[in-house]
Amino acid sequence: MQQELLPELLCSIANTYGTPLYVYNADKITAQFRNLQSSFANSNTRFFYASKALTNINILKHILSIGCSIDCSSVNEAHLAIHVGFKPENILYTSNGIDFSEIEEAVSLGININIDSLSNLEKFGKKYGHSYPVGIRLRPNIMAGGNLKISTGHSNSKFGIPIEQLNEILDLVQQNQIFIRGLHIHTGSEIKDVSVFMKVAEVFFDLVPHFPELEFLDLGGGFKVAYKNNDHITDINLLGNEIEKFLKGLESKHQRKFQCWFEPGKYLVSEAGYLITKVNVLKTSNNTVFAGVNSGLNHLIRPMMYDAYHRIANISNTKGDIKTYTVTGNICETDTFGTDRSLNEVREGDYLAIYNAGAYGFEMSSNYNARYKPAEVIVVDGKASLIRKRDEFADLLRNQIAVL
Ligand code: LLP
Repeated sequence: MQQELLPELLCSIANTYGTPLYVYNADKITAQFRNLQSSFANSNTRFFYASKALTNINILKHILSIGCSIDCSSVNEAHLAIHVGFKPENILYTSNGIDFSEIEEAVSLGININIDSLSNLEKFGKKYGHSYPVGIRLRPNIMAGGNLKISTGHSNSKFGIPIEQLNEILDLVQQNQIFIRGLHIHTGSEIKDVSVFMKVAEVFFDLVPHFPELEFLDLGGGFKVAYKNNDHITDINLLGNEIEKFLKGLESKHQRKFQCWFEPGKYLVSEAGYLITKVNVLKTSNNTVFAGVNSGLNHLIRPMMYDAYHRIANISNTKGDIKTYTVTGNICETDTFGTDRSLNEVREGDYLAIYNAGAYGFEMSSNYNARYKPAEVIVVDGKASLIRKRDEFADLLRNQIAVL
């Protein structure tokens, strides 16, 4: 199984399909999923791929083919999952701030649902009573995650029902005989410390007695992967062991079985993805050499939005002398991909690969500056196939209505 795509292969794919280009390595996704399965082999755990990270239908089909379930953050993601063949029981829908009609649609699809507000829980109870088992998303007031923008469990966060409103939840459940099948807490993305997940487990431990019909405890996603060499990542083996102990403790206290659910997005697809760009312009100013590429924050917004670090390499001159460059895009505002990076000598026309581009890369891209979204390619067993055409001019006009 080839886990990292090498420069020569990436260059030849870029020569075939042009740049900017997203390339995804299916083998890496498989390897990550197998790591999860082996680390959690002794605990009753299910994994739902957080499809918000990357929804290309070929990625979803690959996820289906390796036996992973799927998590959706909108009803449209659920429709995509059904489109590629996921069974409703393997689809999970956890959204927030939605109109009740989306929940009704999710019920009509027969998928697993987590409800995020008291208001929707009440509407749900009135309409479905005990007939449709459901989960509730809670806000535990735990600060976690790589930065505030991707932190969701803290006491100022909009996500989930604040845990201090437990009595209101219990009243609604009782009045409407709601079948609470699961509890859900997602505290954020890029959570390095296993202890954060175990704090969530403790919260669940105390809540279980209130919900006699509980079957699953959903700890969300957020496993941290390496963006840099030697980056601290979530210790998945340790987490697997801790979850095993947690479930054993819970089961011996309550004399029944529970299942833990997780919703990894980045863990499964981040490292599988590459954004290949071409250097348009080299520009020297004071002591800085800018390498201006044919992409920008319109294609990969993470460096601008979260100050995220993405490794960059010159894949078309891998033997060149190491020099320092600031890699920028071609958008009409600052869109720096990397500052003062040591790269093999960069020449105009070289290909620069931006790593860890699988999660929240293409998925958060836009047509800002009326530029085209990139094409996407998947590599399966070393063979590359185009899975999305690059935009063309007609795409910029699609849905616009000329009235003047
Ligand atoms: N479950 C829920 C309820 C979520 O809200 C998320 C991510 C996940 C699972 C998956 O988290 P992951 O395993 O991918 O960390 N665009 C940001 C990340 C936003 C995450 C939003 N929710 C970024 O590029 O860092």
